[in-house]
Amino acid sequence: MIIETERLVLRPFTDADAERVLDIHSRLEVIRWLDDPPWTPMADLDEARAWIANWQRVHEKDERDVGLAIEVRETGVVAGTIMAVPLPKAQHGEKQVGWHLHPDCVGHGYVTEAASALLDHVLPLVGNLWCDMFADNAPSAAVARRLGLRELGVRPDPWYGGESLMFHVTRDEWQARRSA
Ligand SMILES: CC(C)(COP(=O)(O)OP(=O)(O)OC[C@H]1O[C@@H](n2cnc3c(N)ncnc32)[C@H](O)[C@@H]1OP(=O)(O)O)[C@@H](O)C(=O)NCCC(=O)NCCS
Repeated sequence: MIIETERLVLRPFTDADAERVLDIHSRLEVIRWLDDPPWTPMADLDEARAWIANWQRVHEKDERDVGLAIEVRETGVVAGTIMAVPLPKAQHGEKQVGWHLHPDCVGHGYVTEAASALLDHVLPLVGNLWCDMFADNAPSAAVARRLGLRELGVRPDPWYGGESLMFHVTRDEWQARRSA
């Protein structure tokens, strides 16, 4: 799947992205927001290639599940990842939207632009999406608020455990927001 926006191309990762993938995922400042500790930074190009291959498997298993490189059209640089995937241990097929950037690409609106395009594409297929984050992840919460996802506050997280700041959006809410 390839999605084009004004400034970005959202496209599958390839092995040619391995160095950039490693550069992003070897940084504690990025991965510490993606999962619970202990965090294990990506160690080498083999791991990066395995991470890329895993996305290919995800796409093959269910075409509605996507993890795409956010490529900046003007420079060809991979800014980060945008994804819509099942929540861990989801009992009823619940899915989430997620994002992360290389620190050198923060502050340009790339994730908000990428996520808008991804939601346009995925919400008609999956109906609704969750977006959970650590309660103190202010930059990620700002993205969710800019997108206009419905904010549910900090509450027990049935998928990740503990408490998360949670957002939710349905296909109808998104369509209403896009046509407003
Ligand atoms: C969360 C994260 C993706 C947010 O990145 P971001 O660059 O702030 O988000 P966006 O791409 O939407 O950019 C918005 C910023 O770009 C600015 N911007 C600059 N030019 C812009 C443009 N043309 N259009 C829109 N925004 C623009 C906005 O003002 C905003 O900056 P501000 O927050 O200082 O006001 C990033 O901090 C990150 O990768 N963090 C680590 C991983 C992580 O936390 N992932 C989420 C886990 S839940």
